Amino acid sequence: MKKQLAAIAASLAWAFGAQAADIKLVVNADQPGPVIHRNIYGQFAEHLGTGIYEGMWVGPESKIPNVRGWRKDVVAALKELKVPLVRWPGGCFADEYHWRDGIGPRNKRPIKVNTHWGGVPENNAVGTHEFFDLVEQLGAEAYVNANMGTGSPQEAAEWLEYMTGEGNATIVEQRRKNGRDKPFRVHYYALGNETWGCGGNMRPEYYADMYRHWATFLKTPEHNRPKFIASGGNDQDTTWTEVLSKNIRHNFDAIAHHAYTFPSGKWEGKGSAAGFPEAEWISMLSQVKKIDDVLARSTVILDRNDPKKKLAIYFDEWGSWYDPEPGSNPGFLVQRNTLRDALLAALHFNVFHSHADRVKMSNVAQMVNVLQAMILTSKDKLVLTPTYHAFSLYTPFQDATSLPVTLENNPVYKVGATEMPGLSATAARGKDGKLYVGLVNSDATQAAALTLQVGANTPKAAKGRLLTAGAMDAQNELGKPAQVVPQAYEVQAADGKLTLKLPAKSIVVVAIEG
Ligand code: AHR
Repeated sequence: MKKQLAAIAASLAWAFGAQAADIKLVVNADQPGPVIHRNIYGQFAEHLGTGIYEGMWVGPESKIPNVRGWRKDVVAALKELKVPLVRWPGGCFADEYHWRDGIGPRNKRPIKVNTHWGGVPENNAVGTHEFFDLVEQLGAEAYVNANMGTGSPQEAAEWLEYMTGEGNATIVEQRRKNGRDKPFRVHYYALGNETWGCGGNMRPEYYADMYRHWATFLKTPEHNRPKFIASGGNDQDTTWTEVLSKNIRHNFDAIAHHAYTFPSGKWEGKGSAAGFPEAEWISMLSQVKKIDDVLARSTVILDRNDPKKKLAIYFDEWGSWYDPEPGSNPGFLVQRNTLRDALLAALHFNVFHSHADRVKMSNVAQMVNVLQAMILTSKDKLVLTPTYHAFSLYTPFQDATSLPVTLENNPVYKVGATEMPGLSATAARGKDGKLYVGLVNSDATQAAALTLQVGANTPKAAKGRLLTAGAMDAQNELGKPAQVVPQAYEVQAADGKLTLKLPAKSIVVVAIEG
């Protein structure tokens, strides 16, 4: 009986907020950690469905306003987001892509079949020059993924030479003839994609040897040397990290991991993007822990095999993946995007920040109209998704210096047998000198309140933006574009405490004052 009364008292205290003071976030501002590389906020654009064609590229002749074929409205929205990096042309598509198909006059380029994604015609209208035009319009860096599946070391080496060459070699003159005198700046170059699966079903030992072979021939002027990326592990397996970091030495800067999240945790019957129960809300959000875990294990391996920390880990594909939208081409990976996806993104950011010493890049899959997209388009209209707004809230963290945080008395969020920490926090000193804190309240029904300290001090105020909505699956739609949009958020210290109230299912990013 005593026990029951205590439980009732505790739940009443929670409901009326009396427990709020117990949760405390302490930011250790005098112990700066590594810089959070801006490319952690990178994006991925693949020749898949309407991700590039229609979604971004409409061609110069289109009535939809465009700059040399790229949609003005989409580019403007992405620039607003400060997209730092774009990965192209795939994905699984990359291992069937032959770069020579995508250069020269567009009306003379071959038409192929996109065998991996929907079996639709690929007219190669977007090729190397168009891709670089896009990244230059965005002010972003370029990540080019070379074909190891059906390509050759010669083809991969020559693509790099075509893009970066400076002399009068015929291949460089060909680039000039195609309209580009100055070399393209290639920031990242990868050999193969998901080489354990769609990229060739290889074993890590075989791929490591292939990589050593192919990478020997990747040559550029020193000042235009990209970071070279090996296709690596996933969100659980660290075998690839072990084998690659032990066996590759030359032209090797990073290992690319992929991590997708489905409500069911299974490829078959992933679950729905909207109209889901709370059990599927928590099953999605709680899975972000697997990324934290795989990073912790990968770090142990890399610290042993690469103690000088020359190698980075890139999550060059991550995000939510649901069953295809009814009526859509299943090969186009069209899905709705809800508040749940925004929280999923913010939880990823917090994990990536906490591993910023090794994680120097990530690319959400994908940028427009595919999987966890920033933007959904329909003809000449577009809508910004909740995920777009999560990225927007977190822009101050690009190139900020991470700061350790301690979250005391973090409540446990539990639905059925699944549980996870209710709150997740990150902090950093922004490039503008301000101290930023990012918070996620994953609990779908309970608000939370925490007091904030910087070291032993209570700051005066916190000011920034909040993202939340009434329903777990709230989404923005054409005609209803503002169902999930950031709101201004501001609190002042009172009675010697700075208390941040976090609504259920919310993200808050604030600059701390005083
Ligand atoms: O992003 C969609 C696909 O997911 C990519 O092409 C592939 O690399 C991954 O399996």
